[in-house]
Amino acid sequence: MNAQSRHVDNLLSQSFQFSNGARLQNRLVKSALSEALGNLHGHATPELVQLYRTWSASGIGLLVTGNVMIDRRALGEPGNVVVEDASGHAMLSEWAQAGNRNGTQLWMQINHPGKQAFLGLNRETVAPSAIGFGPALAPFFPVPRALTSSEIEDLIVRYGRTAGLAKAAGFKGVQMHGAHGYLISQFLSPHHNQRDDDWGGDAERRRRFVLAVYGEIRRVVGADFPVGIKLNSADFQRGGFTEDESLETIRSLANAGIDMVEISGGTYESPAMARGGAKASTLAREAYFLDFADKVRKEVAVPLMVTGGFRTAAGMNAALASGGLDLVGLGRLMAIEPQVAERLLRGEDPLHQLRAIRTGIRMVDESASMEVTWYTRQLHRIGRGRAPVPNESGLKSFLLDLLTKGWGIFKTRRMRARAGNPAQPEALSLQPSARIDA
Ligand SMILES: Cc1cc2nc3c(=O)[nH]c(=O)nc-3n(C[C@H](O)[C@H](O)[C@H](O)COP(=O)(O)O)c2cc1C
Repeated sequence: MNAQSRHVDNLLSQSFQFSNGARLQNRLVKSALSEALGNLHGHATPELVQLYRTWSASGIGLLVTGNVMIDRRALGEPGNVVVEDASGHAMLSEWAQAGNRNGTQLWMQINHPGKQAFLGLNRETVAPSAIGFGPALAPFFPVPRALTSSEIEDLIVRYGRTAGLAKAAGFKGVQMHGAHGYLISQFLSPHHNQRDDDWGGDAERRRRFVLAVYGEIRRVVGADFPVGIKLNSADFQRGGFTEDESLETIRSLANAGIDMVEISGGTYESPAMARGGAKASTLAREAYFLDFADKVRKEVAVPLMVTGGFRTAAGMNAALASGGLDLVGLGRLMAIEPQVAERLLRGEDPLHQLRAIRTGIRMVDESASMEVTWYTRQLHRIGRGRAPVPNESGLKSFLLDLLTKGWGIFKTRRMRARAGNPAQPEALSLQPSARIDA
């Protein structure tokens, strides 16, 4: 196949138009990757600006930020950006400008971690119900306190406020983080949400929170501003959110007017987002959640993006050709090859392929956190204007992370103590990075 015919066949380079008129220059999207590059005030930094300038130089269609928190009392990890008021607006605008170049658009992913917040990071951890993690993660995460109804109402307003501030700073859209076991996902899950009030008890009431958050964001940003969600196809956990409930949730959000649904899957306890589920039909295709996307496609008319497992131009094109999705989401590849979109848009494969990241320490290698730590280091290198090191040692990355994360938690707490911030936690604990993804 010559270069010209490759280009003609390359569905990745086709533009995509949302029904509200917003247009992406091609079908490639960088999915959210938590950068952990916020400063101690939770504001954006020059490193974030540099990282997004690098990515937008590739001509990719859409960049979605790593998760940005709606409440500084509820961080998911040290270094999260928090957007809850006008402080930090100037850097936020610079960040937006850095991502909105060369025809690329930048959307902000908006999140609250709920119970997936490390021990020692926040004064208190809240969730739909006071249910802790199972034995593998319990040492690293406190048992949460159940939210009161008025706190739930306040959080809904906060999601809207953050979206409004993102719009004011120049972001071109927002995405609710409804996947991977964070607060919205906890509300949807029959395992994590065992409330028996307006916010839980049956599937419809468990869906109320995500619909209320969507409604509030839409009210604040208006009809023409793109609003999407990243949602699990399933939690891959016994008693968790199922494909049937996910489909119903997508149907409800589509009826309410959502502009785009990104499909992923898994939680900290069952990290399918980075490994796929166990089904043979899933493993047979390059990306993990394509079978579920096909099901959604048959039932609901809403723009769909799928993230997880895409590695080759042919695999991405085949997925688009199957008609099961509109947009191709890329995570880890963007961290080791920030210009990968250029090659893919030419119909070429990435220069680098992902490899398993290992430290040689069995306990560490069995937890999925190692990968996140390793990829985060690559993001930090790009943010400092350096090239990623795709063959960097897993052990080196792990040991350096132990030091920097412990130091990061220590600095966050000391800064809060000095500021008399009520979110200051009681005692310092240095923990291995149990984060699996954000
Ligand atoms: C370092 C790292 C950080 C991540 N942070 C986020 C995040 O903030 N929000 C989110 O929705 N997913 C996050 N993810 C998951 C990715 O968006 C994506 O779903 C996952 O990596 C699978 O896609 P891939 O196979 O293309 O890497 C993160 C993944 C990694 C490796």
